[in-house]
Amino acid sequence: MEYTVQPAKAVKGEMVVPGDKSISHRSIMLGSLAEGQTRVTGFLRGEDNLATLNAFRAMGIDITDDGTTLRISGKGLRGLSEPTDVLDCGNSGTSMRLMAGLLAGQSFFSVLTGDQYLRRRPMKRVIEPLARMGGTIFGRSGGDRAPLAIVGRPLAGISHHSAVASAQVKSALMLAGLYAEGETTITEPHLSRDHSERMFRYFGADVASFTGGVTVRGGRELQGRDIIVPGDISSAAFFIVAALIVPGSELLIRGVGVNPTRTGILDILTAMGGDIQLLDCRDLSGEPVADILVRASRLRGVEIGGDVVPRAIDEFPVICVAAALADGQTTLRDAHELRVKETDRITAMAKNLCRAGVAIAETPDGMVIEGAGRIDGCRAESFGDHRIAMSMLVAGLAASGEVTVDDVECIGTSFPDFIPLLQKVANS
Ligand code: S3P
Repeated sequence: MEYTVQPAKAVKGEMVVPGDKSISHRSIMLGSLAEGQTRVTGFLRGEDNLATLNAFRAMGIDITDDGTTLRISGKGLRGLSEPTDVLDCGNSGTSMRLMAGLLAGQSFFSVLTGDQYLRRRPMKRVIEPLARMGGTIFGRSGGDRAPLAIVGRPLAGISHHSAVASAQVKSALMLAGLYAEGETTITEPHLSRDHSERMFRYFGADVASFTGGVTVRGGRELQGRDIIVPGDISSAAFFIVAALIVPGSELLIRGVGVNPTRTGILDILTAMGGDIQLLDCRDLSGEPVADILVRASRLRGVEIGGDVVPRAIDEFPVICVAAALADGQTTLRDAHELRVKETDRITAMAKNLCRAGVAIAETPDGMVIEGAGRIDGCRAESFGDHRIAMSMLVAGLAASGEVTVDDVECIGTSFPDFIPLLQKVANS
């Protein structure tokens, strides 16, 4: 299905965005491994998170959903049972990589697969350190591609330095670490999102964060907890950029998670001249939350690189749109990871923005965008990637003509109500 966006007169009003995808995944996983009940409100019912939910149901965990609250009847660290079929992670890299870690230390066999996009993504980054812990995991392409077959084994803790700042790698090893003998320590070049560290602590795991890494000590049981999932800043990002780039806009987004490991988007857009205010900062189940007020702003090009990159890793497609509408050049460096997301997001955005008349050049680890304050109407491709589709729909609000995006079904992986919400706040 394709969808067409017309240029908007303004983006106005108040809204909430759906729950955080990363926290929603982790709430199912830790809730299932804990003793007793975990209640989750604000859970994101997108396809990625439902893949995780279904996998834990398939491993014998009772999870009910009354439409408001999920109730997970945790069975403790050793309570999962062998699934009778392959576990399908759909498009979700987080489901696959994190579950690879936690399944490596079980006493049963399991197989993880995913859709055509996920089966192309690199898995060695988790499989290799898990093998050093004693994990036995087989995959295609010498163990680098799913499907993955996991023969559960007793694990031993290791120290691992990840070459990439990746919360998925870190979290996979932390989950394996719950089952390992001794300590599991993971260090990374820059701090990636720390939702696992926070939630492990919240559930009572033996975990210690230090500058540059985290240590988990295995064996301690987790206790079921109540979790309120904040709004996903990665979903809010599309609306933040929309309100900045459409003149005359003013938008209040309530209840958004503003964990400092996720707010790179706010730092980058503020450096570009964006008028963004955080109001009513508070804490929900160990995570910082705020309301975000955004007003249309004249943006300027900036240089982006270094430790802000992992803090904004999912937001670069929509940052490209802001950069195209800014005055002057924006340079992105140190973002090679974008090439191994749901699609190659550097190439995908370069192709789409080029069609919209933007001067944009790819580099191996980023891109250079010549902001000219203007985007033309165009036909854009989603490349099966939810964030590419949503970014180009946002571009359409500020373009000089309509923007049509093909194959927008993929938006359902993270933000099923994106289009109706966009229609609600964008005045044509
Ligand atoms: C995620 C980590 C990030 C991010 C993804 C969600 C997580 O991936 O891009 O959308 O929940 O841990 P990497 O760890 O590969 O950077």
